[in-house]
Amino acid sequence: MDELDARGRIALVTGANKGIGYETAKALAAKGATVLIGARDLAAGLRAADQISAEGGTAEAVQIEITDAASVAAAATRIGEKFGRLDILVNNAAVSLEKGREPSEADIGLLRQMYDTNVVGTVIVTNAMLPLLRESDAGRIVNMSTGLASLSLTSAPNSPFASIRHLGYISSKAAVNSATILYANELRPTGIKVNAANPGLCATDLSANKGQPASDGARVVVELALLGPDGPSGGFFDSKGKVPW
Ligand SMILES: NC(=O)c1ccc[n+]([C@@H]2O[C@H](COP(=O)([O-])OP(=O)(O)OC[C@H]3O[C@@H](n4cnc5c(N)ncnc54)[C@H](OP(=O)(O)O)[C@@H]3O)[C@@H](O)[C@H]2O)c1
Repeated sequence: MDELDARGRIALVTGANKGIGYETAKALAAKGATVLIGARDLAAGLRAADQISAEGGTAEAVQIEITDAASVAAAATRIGEKFGRLDILVNNAAVSLEKGREPSEADIGLLRQMYDTNVVGTVIVTNAMLPLLRESDAGRIVNMSTGLASLSLTSAPNSPFASIRHLGYISSKAAVNSATILYANELRPTGIKVNAANPGLCATDLSANKGQPASDGARVVVELALLGPDGPSGGFFDSKGKVPW
């Protein structure tokens, strides 16, 4: 697959102050993109942007709390005023809050919080940024998913995922997968490509620091963010290729 030249492209990564989001932003900046570090805590965003800038990248922080429509709208206004468009949106910010609970013991407050961030927040950001993405000659949206959200993999006989039953996190990410397909179908005539990424288990705060380096997980995200015109839309991918829905 052809990879677009990242130089001159404007990329917003939500939740980019740490973890896979940070590594994605860093890798896009290393390829020449201007990266906007979305962070709900602006000070954390500024620190991440400074780090990327110190390594020679072009980065700036944007305050963005994805569940707060006013914060997201302000970010979109700022990006519009400064750049007039957005080429790449990585919907990375998410929470996983229910460690060790079975579905039968779900905490409804936490369930709501996870859906609010992982699903509703992703939709708020996507819809607020779409007018800017439509101004790009090759808009790309990457939604961060997980292999756990694959209905095929979790329901397979003897699935290694059968023992992982985080209802809120997993089902909210399955909703993100569904949203990925729906947006891809809507936006197909515009050339904006929308795909879901499975970074694999990465050592971050969200995973209690188990797994591969976050920079390895970021690779597939960067690949999807820079898909050429012949690249897919409405798919689910990890570093090895297609993931079954
Ligand atoms: N780590 C893994 O093994 C793994 C595997 C599969 C998929 N993923 C996915 O990869 C993505 C990144 O996860 P990660 O492991 O890098 O997690 P992480 O280190 O916990 O980072 C999550 C980021 O999201 C931000 N965030 C959370 N809620 C937010 C909100 N309401 N508004 C704005 N920002 C918010 C966090 O900000 P604060 O710093 O302010 O909390 C942080 O920057 C997530 O979508 C996750 O589901 C991770």
